[in-house]
Amino acid sequence: MRNIIVSIVTLCLLTTACSSRAPQYRIGVSQCLDDAWRQKMNYEMERELLLHPDMTLSRRIAYGSNELQCAQIDSFIRERVDLLIVSPNEAEQVKPAVTRAYRAGIPVIVADRRVTGDEWTAFIGGDNYKVGRLMAQWVMEKWKTAQQTAQRSNSPKRGTASRPFVVLEVAGLPGSTPATLRHKGMMEGIEEAKEEGLVAKVEMQSVMGSWYKENAHEAVSAYLRDHAIPDVIVAHNDLMAIGAAEAAGGVPIMGVDGIQPGLRAIVEGKITCSATYSSRGDMVIATAAQILHGEPFVRDTVLETTMIDASIAYPMLRQDEAITRDLETLHLFQTQTESKWRQLRYDKTLLITWLIVLIALFLLAAGYIIANQVKLQQEIKRDILPQLEDVQEAIQLSHRDVAFADRLKQAVDDHLTDQNLSVEYLGSMLQLSRTQLFRRVKTVTGKGPLDYIRERRLIRADQLLHTTDMTIQQVALELCFSSPGYFTKCYKEYFGHLPSAR
Ligand code: FRU
Repeated sequence: MRNIIVSIVTLCLLTTACSSRAPQYRIGVSQCLDDAWRQKMNYEMERELLLHPDMTLSRRIAYGSNELQCAQIDSFIRERVDLLIVSPNEAEQVKPAVTRAYRAGIPVIVADRRVTGDEWTAFIGGDNYKVGRLMAQWVMEKWKTAQQTAQRSNSPKRGTASRPFVVLEVAGLPGSTPATLRHKGMMEGIEEAKEEGLVAKVEMQSVMGSWYKENAHEAVSAYLRDHAIPDVIVAHNDLMAIGAAEAAGGVPIMGVDGIQPGLRAIVEGKITCSATYSSRGDMVIATAAQILHGEPFVRDTVLETTMIDASIAYPMLRQDEAITRDLETLHLFQTQTESKWRQLRYDKTLLITWLIVLIALFLLAAGYIIANQVKLQQEIKRDILPQLEDVQEAIQLSHRDVAFADRLKQAVDDHLTDQNLSVEYLGSMLQLSRTQLFRRVKTVTGKGPLDYIRERRLIRADQLLHTTDMTIQQVALELCFSSPGYFTKCYKEYFGHLPSAR
């Protein structure tokens, strides 16, 4: 019985487990930072994930620490995630952990910032060199405008031997590939322009902002304590551009990223312009799905970049805000749907549990009834049946006795007046031996055969005395008593009074 119940419970649990759509693939996401740009990327990933119910994300943030990021990647390796997405804080420092994951057989998608070497599965990120070239282009434009303004106002020309055109670069973390490539692109762009005679006497200065607004604010403030206000500031991202603007108000500033904080700063006139730098978390997840499903994918995707100035910042900001609202609604919808699913799953489990309990109770009751029935049958067989057989036998015996009693009575009554009626004669009539006759007559009458014959004769005598005119002597003689005196004696013993007293 217990085995049956255990089997049913196991079966039900298995059915529940199999029918729930458990995600098959676990993806580890290792983010270097947690700023607005990263949050946008995370949002995009989650939105795309809605299209892939077989995948789940587990996200860890390194908050700008190479050591923490390596440790987090190692924990993903230990947990045997099915795929790793990494946006490395610094290329060289995070490379060993990325290589460990790749060599452990985990597909690795490097997003936004690169790692050195080529032990990774796919890369998706912006064109940082091109971003640098856009910076150089903007610097050249600013140089030109400054020249024209100086000419008009007859003031000492910037970009000459006496007054160089100073560009202050607020750099991102030096070990990160966007910082390296943006710097390279800008420097090469300016160098080329110088060679072509497009600009002259551009002086490059640099401070470190390490991607943070606060760092940039501090670095620019410190710079301004020892230097004159630069002609332009080029920050490697919008957050640092805003930090720089707070320290050096009025200086034209270019940033990078072109998402809400930067667009708002352009609209509000805090910074001058920005270059777009797409996060494309959705594309990262779509590529992850292709890799996990064994479908073809693009190994190295470099995303386009473009300039944003005050003329398009406002519509872009509104559009971005609308997209954010949509994403939030979608997120809310997703949360609600998930909670409904959870409730449904809970209800289902509850229902199945109740069903199991009911089946178990039913089986227990059935088992109890069956066990009792078996016990009862055994008891009947053991105790009651033999008794019943005894009773039946007794009944059969008594039937035989009644029949015998009739035959006996008949045989005796037919020969009451017969002198020869003796034990032997009676035995021969009933076809019994003397001993059998004694035993059976005793059983049915409680007397011996002679006593029985005498009793029958006395009863007949009594009838004759009452129904005929026969005298006591005649009756005694008729019924074969040896003498009237003996008859009288027997009669008195049997009936308790004399025959004459009738
Ligand atoms: C966000 C960020 C962006 C920048 C990118 C470079 O964390 O600092 O502002 O463009 O990373 O990797």
